[in-house]
Amino acid sequence: MNILDLEHTFEEIYGKKAEHAFFAPGRVNLIGEHTDYNGGLVFPCALSFGTYLLLSPRNDKKTSFSSINMEFSGTVDANAFINKPSTWIKYPLGVMKEFANRGFDVWGYDLLYYGNIPNGAGLSSSASIEVVTAVMLNEMCKANLDMVDLVKISQKAENIYVGVNCGIMDQFAVGMGKAQKAIALDCASLKYDYVPLEMQGYKLVIANTNKKRGLADSKYNERRSECDEAVATISTARKINFLCELTEEEFEKYSHLIQNETVRRRARHAVYENQRVIKAIDALKSGDLKTFGLLMNASHQSLKEDYEVTGIELDTLAEEGQHLEGVLGSRMTGAGFGGCTVTLVQADKVNDYIEKVGKLYKEKVNLEATFYIADVGEGARKLY
Ligand code: GLA
Repeated sequence: MNILDLEHTFEEIYGKKAEHAFFAPGRVNLIGEHTDYNGGLVFPCALSFGTYLLLSPRNDKKTSFSSINMEFSGTVDANAFINKPSTWIKYPLGVMKEFANRGFDVWGYDLLYYGNIPNGAGLSSSASIEVVTAVMLNEMCKANLDMVDLVKISQKAENIYVGVNCGIMDQFAVGMGKAQKAIALDCASLKYDYVPLEMQGYKLVIANTNKKRGLADSKYNERRSECDEAVATISTARKINFLCELTEEEFEKYSHLIQNETVRRRARHAVYENQRVIKAIDALKSGDLKTFGLLMNASHQSLKEDYEVTGIELDTLAEEGQHLEGVLGSRMTGAGFGGCTVTLVQADKVNDYIEKVGKLYKEKVNLEATFYIADVGEGARKLY
């Protein structure tokens, strides 16, 4: 579906032309998983696919939501904030509420959303809806907020309105992405740096497990609490705000204080994963893709064994890929519990990788995986 098709659909639904269009991408995280809310580093990039938002103002104080790829369409007014919906419109409504809280008039639009990010696949389809809404409201309300503010508003909408206690990585990557660059983001200070993706004949291949992610949100929130518990325990000996403040050696010095073995493993993942991101950024900057790949493999193993957010689907895709010729590294990306892997594959071995891993996955898990070659694109923006 291209923008012309979307404009046509908009006219069919609303009987008038769309006056403006906006876009926000999805994201893939290369390494640094479950480090953002632990005050650590992440290394994501924006994708070329994402969410389009077309709109035209209306004459009343209501807003109509339609979508081509998601269920629910209808017109709501300010009461919708109170009777929080269970459908996808909770994402734009959460962002609208944040703008309304800041005194902006957010009502009075006919909206059409279309996303080509697979939903619930760990590629930030929800952050993309939030950020495209924030960019749209910033423009329509003449709010003059900068992109980092819009990113924070979008994260807050997800935390408070949607109720998922996510970190800032997804919204940041979606808002601030740059074509052919990964973002080295320190989630404690929000300092960031763009690192060119010099791929030397390798491709980033995303493989979708196509597994439904049941209970992922509650398990995600549970991991966060476990990390908070570890911070509190270590702080009895040495005051820290976040686990990722610790080096590996420092963690080993204090880890015995954490009595609960599960919590200790969660904390170990956060600390070691953060150090892996530091090494991976250096490796990419110095053109050492081999080391980058090994760090990806180590990241997956830690997410499997210590953080326990993988499962047979992600493990099969990542581990079967890691063994193949022409593959430098493979790991799960995003929150886990289903979703996608990201794999560094030599360009002329991509077909081979897809065929072999797809077949093994089908045999072992009895699901079809879907593969995409990641095209690293720009962050959220106004189209017209
Ligand atoms: C989800 C969250 C992010 C981050 C990742 C795990 O995508 O939205 O904030 O915590 O999981 O790295």
